[in-house]
Amino acid sequence: MRKKIVAGNWKMNTTPVEGVELAKGVAEGKKEVCDCVNFIVCPPFTHLSEVVKVTRGTGIAVGAQDCATEAKGAYTGEVAASMIASLGVEYVILGHSERRQYYGETSETLNKKMVQAYANNLTPIYCVGESLDERKAGKHFDVCKAQIEEVVFNLTPEQFSKLIIAYEPVWAIGTGETATAEQAQEIHAYIREVLASKFGEAAAETPILYGGSCKPSNAAEIFAKEDVDGGLIGGAALKAEDFLAIGKGF
Ligand code: 13P
Repeated sequence: MRKKIVAGNWKMNTTPVEGVELAKGVAEGKKEVCDCVNFIVCPPFTHLSEVVKVTRGTGIAVGAQDCATEAKGAYTGEVAASMIASLGVEYVILGHSERRQYYGETSETLNKKMVQAYANNLTPIYCVGESLDERKAGKHFDVCKAQIEEVVFNLTPEQFSKLIIAYEPVWAIGTGETATAEQAQEIHAYIREVLASKFGEAAAETPILYGGSCKPSNAAEIFAKEDVDGGLIGGAALKAEDFLAIGKGF
């Protein structure tokens, strides 16, 4: 049985005070959602310490949105995985399309970030997904395959057993446009096949989340698909009520 996961990527939104309120709201409302759903909130770095405190003991886990490629040292502006982990944070989003697109993240940098994440016991939520042009050209399978081969295939079987994948088609992020449940299932199943070609049966246990304008009104249909194990939620994660309602989609 794969884990059911609903993770909220807050991106660069909320002040620390607003973030703490949001986290408290999620923790409070969680009681009304099936215990079988694992909620993760991923606020900006500046909020992590306080959000860990207010979610402790509530069953809500906390993730960061990125980490540095290096362990420590003269890297102005960077935040090390060890610093994040020391706060009680358990997850880290790596390879989000916004980081690939706006900050030039490549498989080379992501391999280093993976090393740092695992060395500090952070579970990576590794994002893959194609652009609109790539989808139109029918290259979405190849794009996701390459993003997996170039990074995930370098993991040890033990590391792989902890990994979470998020499939996020760039054309559906923040656009209001969502992949259909069938499109999501098709590519999730393909991603699992690619993972299995390297890691065998262990791929049957890997949670693969869908991301891209996922909201209360479409979550249930998407989550009903066999290879969709939850969602990585952007905009709708900024309202506790909507975020929790997505969790009710299972
Ligand atoms: P939206 O839900 O706002 O489309 O964002 C998805 C996303 O990028 C989550 O990481």
